[in-house]
Amino acid sequence: MAKRYKVLVGGEWTGDDRPGIEVVNPYDGSVIGVVPEATNEDVDRAIHAAQAGFAEMAALPAHRRSDILERTSELITRDREEIAEIIAREAGKSWKFALAEADRSAETFRFASLEARNAHGELVPMDASPVSAGRFGFYIRTPIGVIGAIAPFNFPLNLVAHKVAPAIAAGNALVLKPATKTPLSSIKLAELMVEAGLPAGALNLVIGSGRTVGNRLVEDDRLAMVTFTGSPPVGVQIKERSGLKRVTLELGSNSPTIIEDDGDVDAAVARCVVGSFANSGQVCISVQRIFVHQRRYREFVDKFVAATQKLKVGDPMDRDCDIGPMISRDELQRAVEWLEEATSLGARLETGGTVVGNCLTPAILSGVTPDMKVVCSEVFAPIVSVIPYETFDQALDMADDSIYGLQAGVYTRDINKAFQAIRRLDVGGVIINDVPTFRVDHMPYGGNKQSGLGREGIRYAMEEMTNIKFVCLNL
Ligand code: SIN
Repeated sequence: MAKRYKVLVGGEWTGDDRPGIEVVNPYDGSVIGVVPEATNEDVDRAIHAAQAGFAEMAALPAHRRSDILERTSELITRDREEIAEIIAREAGKSWKFALAEADRSAETFRFASLEARNAHGELVPMDASPVSAGRFGFYIRTPIGVIGAIAPFNFPLNLVAHKVAPAIAAGNALVLKPATKTPLSSIKLAELMVEAGLPAGALNLVIGSGRTVGNRLVEDDRLAMVTFTGSPPVGVQIKERSGLKRVTLELGSNSPTIIEDDGDVDAAVARCVVGSFANSGQVCISVQRIFVHQRRYREFVDKFVAATQKLKVGDPMDRDCDIGPMISRDELQRAVEWLEEATSLGARLETGGTVVGNCLTPAILSGVTPDMKVVCSEVFAPIVSVIPYETFDQALDMADDSIYGLQAGVYTRDINKAFQAIRRLDVGGVIINDVPTFRVDHMPYGGNKQSGLGREGIRYAMEEMTNIKFVCLNL
């Protein structure tokens, strides 16, 4: 019998009398837990509890919020192997990347702990205008209120941490809806935060589909803000349904990497293998399009194919596994169809693309065209396209020819070309001499165009999760 889990609402563990949702290991299909499916009343109760939690959080001094976050970080580190196992089993993420995610989450909470103590407003020079000379102005940042956080399956702990930690650092309360496929990491996090001393009602969990639980959350006027990470179509719906709430959306991408002829091809190969295929490519900043200067193209493709063929595909719990399964059979099927569409339109499969159980072996395509789904839509699978170019200008144009704009990687030793890319690319982050998949958890992170709205990264998320309150003293 799979374990039945409860969820945290208003400081109580509850819900095991509800109909359950089975959590399935995507590698072998086994049921690893059953979680309560939230009813409308449960969502209502969670929001109500969060309102009470907000009253307490807003009154909690910064040093207390900081201590809770620091303690949470320590507890994640204490339980890192248990957490890695939860992530590997529910998300199919290979053990080494699951462990890295646990460690990143501990760091995310540590950054939040530091930011909680440092959040401040600023002086406004009122004598800049003759109208206000003689007045004294400053602003403070106040917590926004109850935040609805809707998280994805691909980083079931750290992308939850990126919503929970800054919200708590800023003095807010949350109703968290983790992905229905990966709720166990969130339940574990809630346990640790209670142990760390989080006040009752500051974090409340609801689990269920986007159409029911998600929509109810997004439409409820008691929420001040919705923060969502997931697909662009769902992000657009959330924005349309959320009325005047503040909304931050961290959506998808078809992230480019440019390898200029003066770039370090060996370094690029090593990083593109990780950036394209880690977590079976189910990463918003996964490398999807690699543009290589034609003089280095054949060298790059040969080395990239050889390095990719060394990856170990299989059981995520194996300590040396590189690539586990896709999150579901449906997603695997979709990826295979996109591959078939590309090859039927003339693309060449340089390696991979074979279904093994619920895994797809890492696939490298060449000879693609811009209109193929594997190029122009977010592929979210271990599939990458390699495209030659003649001039750096042309590479920048092709990289920017996208409805998305999250992050881009550029390999060049020429500082002028690096700055040309920084100026030209319409993206949230330009990563020079690394892949767009590079992220540490205190940097600003988010996209332009259809990649989203607003920024995460603790300090930047806290800016989204607070209001500016201006004060003017007429003395
Ligand atoms: C994402 O998939 O958006 C998150 C990537 C990361 O945090 O490394």
